[in-house]
Amino acid sequence: MADEEGSTAPMLEVADLTKRYGGLVAVKNLSFSIRPGRILGLIGPNGSGKSTAMKTIMGVEQPTVGSIRLDGVEIGGLPAHKVARRGVGLVFQHSRPLNRQTVLENIKVALLPDRLTQLFATADVDAKARDIAVRVGLAHVVDRKPPTLAFADLRRLELAKAIARHPKLVLVDEPFAGLTASEVAAFSDLIRAFRDDGCAVLLVDHNVKGVAALVDHVLAMYLGERIAEGAAADVMQDETVRRVYLGGALTRVEREEARFGDRVPVLQVDDVGVLYGKALALQSVSMHVHEGEFVSVVGLNGAGKTTLFNAISGLVPHSGTVRWSGDALGGSSAAAIARGGIVHCPETRELFGDMSVRENLDLGGNGLDAKERGERLEWLFDLFPILRDRQVQVARTLSGGEQQMLAIARALMMKPKLLILDEPTLGLAPVILETLSKALERLRTTTRISVLLGEQNVTFALPHADRVYVLDHARMVWEGPPSRFEAEAAAAYL
Ligand SMILES: Nc1ncnc2c1ncn2[C@@H]1O[C@H](COP(=O)(O)OP(=O)(O)OP(=O)(O)O)[C@@H](O)[C@H]1O
Ligand SMILES: [Mg+2]
Repeated sequence: MADEEGSTAPMLEVADLTKRYGGLVAVKNLSFSIRPGRILGLIGPNGSGKSTAMKTIMGVEQPTVGSIRLDGVEIGGLPAHKVARRGVGLVFQHSRPLNRQTVLENIKVALLPDRLTQLFATADVDAKARDIAVRVGLAHVVDRKPPTLAFADLRRLELAKAIARHPKLVLVDEPFAGLTASEVAAFSDLIRAFRDDGCAVLLVDHNVKGVAALVDHVLAMYLGERIAEGAAADVMQDETVRRVYLGGALTRVEREEARFGDRVPVLQVDDVGVLYGKALALQSVSMHVHEGEFVSVVGLNGAGKTTLFNAISGLVPHSGTVRWSGDALGGSSAAAIARGGIVHCPETRELFGDMSVRENLDLGGNGLDAKERGERLEWLFDLFPILRDRQVQVARTLSGGEQQMLAIARALMMKPKLLILDEPTLGLAPVILETLSKALERLRTTTRISVLLGEQNVTFALPHADRVYVLDHARMVWEGPPSRFEAEAAAAYL
């Protein structure tokens, strides 16, 4: 059982839990327990069943077999609203705010009691909601609506909603995904506060350092089953865990800019500015990419990376010029820009959720003839074998990491000349980062493709770049080879 010896009784006891989807066993004979005031970390490669285990505890999914006890009482199979009423809170992998309500109203809704009769007895709801907003660091945006929030603030809102519901068992799915080191530290403090209040916490994340620093105990899963369990340091050393989850170190191959012979860079961005209402999202940004070159744009959340990529792809109006193969793109539609070879794989993935894996890929390969499409598909299935096995699965039921792989594969299906990858590492297990790294390396050595990579994860951005730009508060503040990054620009990241 996943807990050390002790006198307090476990708050959560999961015994022999199995969850099947048709022929697929997503969780298999899983058993663990968590005591009050403890944090259990659940790690494992993409698709290993972590989110499914959480959703089954929460009652979002029904267990196929097995028992789930909360304070000794069976809750397995209860619907989610009943599980929530008993004190279980789930912080989702993806934010789901009410987009037409303000941040404060979102927190207030979470604070409301289950029974309407109590509604008018809670006059202090407003004050409570403001307290929670301060606690999670949302005080400065309480009157804004979620669609205008920065990425990290959306995650904060999910935590605020969880705090408002006052759970005793907290399930947190990938809180650190896409966050920078200092944001991870801030979120860790918030999760620690749940523990210090006596909650039991189940935490899933691929940020191995973040998990190890926070949890009391780790359980590693693979293909739905437990493969190792114990203190974080021991589990991370476990040979099977290293092989199936952590993978090896990324290799670094940087090429000098002078090697790229094109006199006119294939992509040339000059003095580009973007305004969202009155907010300056990009200010006089200039940068370029040569044919065949791999360029990384690193920057903290909210620095403007996505806005820059949207400007290049024709998705937001901008001042300044973007030239593609020497021609100004001003006025071209996003569709025309994509047909010209600039393919953008957005942070939000934009998959067709109700279509199958194969249908999503076929749409990407629309412009290719049958033979080429077949070859391309084979090549992508070699890069991401899981997609070959899951061709008929509906995209929205894929695990978080599987969806990310599909989004990247679909973009590659379009045979881009310039591939723009916005935060491709979001939600990917370390071992998959290695796969993606090899895929990029193969693109680099076998094609003339140019890659523009946006990342806050510098451990991934640096090894995959010939050149690096640093974007900070809407401006480019540094440019240079990865080898100089650490000495000259890393202060904010490492
Ligand atoms: N409704 C469903 N129908 C079919 N298969 C499903 C469904 N939901 C999940 N799966 C599959 O179950 C497996 C476990 O998925 P789960 O989301 O639990 O993985 P995970 O460990 O959370 O992965 P990640 O780290 O990528 O988020 C995956 O292979 C997924 O494709
Ligand atoms: Mg998941």
